[in-house]
Amino acid sequence: MLWLMSKVIPKRVLEDIRFRSDIVDVIGSYFNLQRAGSAFKATCPFHKEKTPSFHVNPQRQIFHCFGCGTGGDVFRFVMQYEGVDFMGAIKILAHRAGIKIELEEGEEGGSDKAALYQLHADVAAFFHHELLEGKRSAAAKQYLVKRDLARETVEEFQIGYAPEGWDVLINWAHQKKYTTDLLEKAGLILRKDKPSAGSGEFYDRFRNRLMFPIFDEQSRVIGFSGRTMDDKDKTAKYINSPETLLFKKSRVLYALDKARRHIVESREAIICEGQIDVIRCHQAGFKTAVASQGTAFTEEHVRILRRYADSVVIIFDTDKAGQDASIRTSMEFMDAGMAVRVGVLPEKEDPDSYIRKKGAEGFSNVVNQAGSAVAYQVRVLSTREDAKSEIGAMRIAKAVLQTISHSPNAVQRAKLVQEVAERLNIPATALQEDLRFMQRKAGQQSTATARSDGETAPEKEQPKEEIQLCEHMANVMDHPELVDLVKKYLPLSMIHDPICRLFVEACLESVAAGRTIQDVINDKDDKSGELQNFVARTFMTPTKITGQETSHGAAVKDLILYIWRRKLEKERAAIDKNPDAKSEERRRQITYDLKSLKKWDDGALIIEFELSS
Ligand code: CTP
Ligand code: MN
Repeated sequence: MLWLMSKVIPKRVLEDIRFRSDIVDVIGSYFNLQRAGSAFKATCPFHKEKTPSFHVNPQRQIFHCFGCGTGGDVFRFVMQYEGVDFMGAIKILAHRAGIKIELEEGEEGGSDKAALYQLHADVAAFFHHELLEGKRSAAAKQYLVKRDLARETVEEFQIGYAPEGWDVLINWAHQKKYTTDLLEKAGLILRKDKPSAGSGEFYDRFRNRLMFPIFDEQSRVIGFSGRTMDDKDKTAKYINSPETLLFKKSRVLYALDKARRHIVESREAIICEGQIDVIRCHQAGFKTAVASQGTAFTEEHVRILRRYADSVVIIFDTDKAGQDASIRTSMEFMDAGMAVRVGVLPEKEDPDSYIRKKGAEGFSNVVNQAGSAVAYQVRVLSTREDAKSEIGAMRIAKAVLQTISHSPNAVQRAKLVQEVAERLNIPATALQEDLRFMQRKAGQQSTATARSDGETAPEKEQPKEEIQLCEHMANVMDHPELVDLVKKYLPLSMIHDPICRLFVEACLESVAAGRTIQDVINDKDDKSGELQNFVARTFMTPTKITGQETSHGAAVKDLILYIWRRKLEKERAAIDKNPDAKSEERRRQITYDLKSLKKWDDGALIIEFELSS
């Protein structure tokens, strides 16, 4: 079967994919599920835990973790677990189900993109073949031996060799019918300044280099990094692909496609500087290692990693640049609320050289002994300042507090301050005070930032009555009378919590459109996944009918009353706080309304309201 897909996926295709992607089968193909009654259980892949609170419900085709709250349908699971967007999840599930989909990407450059992916895949295979089977790769093979890169590693990372010569790739591409235009767009060839007669206008970017393909999260090749094999070479040690339609440096993390499953399991990643460091780590069994592609860690890198990890261990080179980068990178991660540790290697070592000398065990010690980012900073700065002198200690304290102020988490901040106090022998209270002062100043400078005073806004709790309302409304398919109740008596704007509001709205829509609630929800904008989490949780928790209520209808009526009372009481309180000329009359009306709100009169709510929508 061949489906033609534009950016909008036909419902039919989606439903077909869903139908053939049983959630128990799909999740079960990633990790073991244990039967628990009519449902299935496992330890949650999305947070660290010992006892399983991750549940899969085959009847409803949803999953939900009672520990961390993640949940949703099969598409959402794949999105979360594979770290892909909705389209990515569709592709994965379609592929799994044997449904062929042809993507006709509507966005500009869509067909270019598809061609570029193909070209990169072919070029990587060509370089790889040249290294393993080619006649020109003797020196490259020797270099592999010198660097102790095993055959399996070479295969796993598809390491290759770009032969010596100005037009090796150009000729190969010509044979393969790739256009010069596409090669140029891929950054694989460069235009000559002064083309000489008889030769072409372009030349190969990568010549006589060991080639490392760079993969995206879906393991597609999107660029290359080529290392010279001659230490006396005066050109750059590494030459990388330029930014292209596919390759965006600020987003790529080397080896993330291989590391992320492992990262998800431990919720922790090892961050290195170089790709050989990462390769060495993986070869030695540290499969959670990733690196940025020769650039500083960006906010975007952090955002990507945060999908899989709660904490990171940074292990960079030991030179000054590496130290500074460690501190800068720590701050990026702390900004995102992640726990950061920094591992320290002996002078002149990097993870690659250290593992070669001390083996996996030695490196494992470094990882385990990695201390907080702040401890690291104190340690580094103490080599640059005299920590014993008052002025030195103050300078260090100031720099370190700057780092601490990056943490959006008050508990983390307090712990770090305590640590610095001990290390610098300064009273913690003094440091606290300085930190607050610093944060106030930062707040004044940038009131526009979300976290101006260094505090995160406390997560607003969802009112429990609104959650209960949703839990009852979830039965709307079997109890269409609930729709009337809400439509008649509860303006949706009175539901405070946006998620609950969306959910109730979806319940009404689902009945009107004859679709399932889950389907309607899938169409809603839900970038953070909060709504999906909520839906899964709601469906997982059986509705409790308590007290005298005997039906969902009765329960919903009570909740509607409650919400009305809450609104009126709030209004009355506001009036009392700020009375004006009209207050008295309105106050009397509210008091009257509140009294009549005690019960439903003949099955109808007495208060009248204008439906805003
Ligand atoms: N890098 C780069 N361009 C350079 C030098 C470095 O893009 N001219 C990037 C590479 O991704 C490299 C990383 O920065 O892996 C770290 O550089 P460096 O520490 O100099 O190299 P190593 O990773 O130690 O590489 P090797 O062990 O091969 O010397
Ligand atoms: Mn190195």
